[in-house]
Amino acid sequence: MNPIEIRNLNKVFKTKQHALHALNDVSLSIQKGEMVAIMGTSGSGKTTLLHILGCIDHPSGGSYRLNDIPVEQQSPKALARIRNRDLGFVMQDFALVDHYSVQKNVLLPLNYMKEPQLRKERAARLPALLEKLHIGQKRHEKVMNLSGGQKQRVAIARALINDPGIILADEPTGALDQKTSQEIIELLKSINQEGKTIIIVTHDPNIAAYCDRIVRIEDGRMIEAGELIP
Ligand SMILES: Nc1ncnc2c1ncn2[C@@H]1O[C@H](COP(=O)(O)OP(=O)(O)OP(=O)(O)O)[C@@H](O)[C@H]1O
Ligand SMILES: [Mg+2]
Repeated sequence: MNPIEIRNLNKVFKTKQHALHALNDVSLSIQKGEMVAIMGTSGSGKTTLLHILGCIDHPSGGSYRLNDIPVEQQSPKALARIRNRDLGFVMQDFALVDHYSVQKNVLLPLNYMKEPQLRKERAARLPALLEKLHIGQKRHEKVMNLSGGQKQRVAIARALINDPGIILADEPTGALDQKTSQEIIELLKSINQEGKTIIIVTHDPNIAAYCDRIVRIEDGRMIEAGELIP
């Protein structure tokens, strides 16, 4: 079973004037432990695809099985649970709460968790996680006082706190200089080598070079699904 199976996926954004086909008949399988880059020009549909993969947005047609669960048949409540348990998100603009501490930001996803015992176990991993991401000393610092690279590491820590199998990243190095980008992608690669499936939207060929394969999208159509590099 592949963690991600999408078939003939369509996404149409309807406005008063017209309907915009953001995704057109996209099919894609992603295996467990793969690290995949999604590339394509601005407006080609990358973020739309990532949002659908992340169950943040719904497709207009086609099917999506996430860990063998048919996503379109799930209730909003079930989807929220799947998002929290199985998926970690890293966004380009970090999407952190600036006036919260590093610790408070990273622990945010646990607030949505029902099981108190599991929540405790996850929270107990915080120090080791922050150390691993080299932000241990910043644990009580407000996020607004961190550098861009440090903020991105906080966002990655938050994506990992629930130990999800799949990490979705939308241009995780878009706001960073080359050296910091390199550090972040090497970090994501090491997380991938621990067995996580990672999907990264990027414009940067240097980032894509770290991935097992590249999926290319143009005008909402997949023009290349990539070869799995053995
Ligand atoms: N909520 C929305 N309503 C209407 N149109 C939308 C909406 N979201 C995205 N679109 C349109 O869908 C198309 C794909 O957008 P998307 O954000 O997926 O592009 P992208 O490949 O991520 O681009 P970029 O590289 O600039 O981030 C664009 O034409 C965009 O204007
Ligand atoms: Mg985008």
